[in-house]
Amino acid sequence: MPKIIFSLFENEHLSERIRKGINAESGSYIKRQFPDKETYIRILSVVEKKDVILICSLDKPDHKFLPLLYFCKLLKDLHAKSICLVSPYLSYMRQDTQFKNGEAITSKYFANIISSLVDKLITIDPHLHRIKSLNEIYNIPCITLDASKLISKWIKNNIANPLLIGPDSESEQWVSKIAKGASAPFIILNKIRLNDNLVEIVVPKLNKYKDYTPVLVDDIISTGHTMLETIMHLKMASMPPPICIAVHAVFAKNSYRNLKKSQIKNIITTNTINHKSNQIDISEMIIRELLIKSGSDK
Ligand code: R5P
Repeated sequence: MPKIIFSLFENEHLSERIRKGINAESGSYIKRQFPDKETYIRILSVVEKKDVILICSLDKPDHKFLPLLYFCKLLKDLHAKSICLVSPYLSYMRQDTQFKNGEAITSKYFANIISSLVDKLITIDPHLHRIKSLNEIYNIPCITLDASKLISKWIKNNIANPLLIGPDSESEQWVSKIAKGASAPFIILNKIRLNDNLVEIVVPKLNKYKDYTPVLVDDIISTGHTMLETIMHLKMASMPPPICIAVHAVFAKNSYRNLKKSQIKNIITTNTINHKSNQIDISEMIIRELLIKSGSDK
């Protein structure tokens, strides 16, 4: 069945590689804003009876969401056979419960709308915490890929004597796997989030790791406070400057600049979100998945 790929919102860094890898047609369209900031979309390629793949990382999701919705509706009007959304970074995974009365459980609402727009979702390391599988909130087949092997390989090839450090219990799921793959020791810290912008980290005694290179590993760097707070504690424990690694380079506000200015050796991310810190390429993983015909949430 013919496949056609569209890159939405500056995801060309991935879409061209993926397109070549699965030998698909490149889709073309026009998207612009009217002077009053409403969205205009016109799909120029023929999509009728074709399997459509949308490459669309959903960082900074709010301004992407409505155009994505229009795009999917238009694909259906134009009789696309199926729509597979490849969203290497899947947003709205953190407000997955009601912490206070009256709060919106946006993970659920977002999943509900996406499930009504596309036939299948492929993503990488979604922030699964209280929700254990995407199929608890999405009503479509969801494939969750895992970047841990690629990160382990990068650490093995680039860091001598690494000590992997996870900033909180949530990170243990990633850090333990990555440490195993890199044949490195790991420790998990205790993080208390005080509000959106404030975290407190408790670091255990690190005396026996003085000769190691600290490698902070997390799934997301957003405000950077989790990393910054950990870096400060490592410094107080007289550890060498760490290397910070994250799957998703969200980098809200000035967090990348603030981290670069702090006492670190480097910041490394995968290219689920296009960013200058990207050094680990996840496109092969997506290509392999797209070449497999069927599947559901792993
Ligand atoms: C939280 O549970 C995540 O694993 C990350 O630790 C968190 O999202 C990082 O956020 P920030 O950079 O804003 O501290």
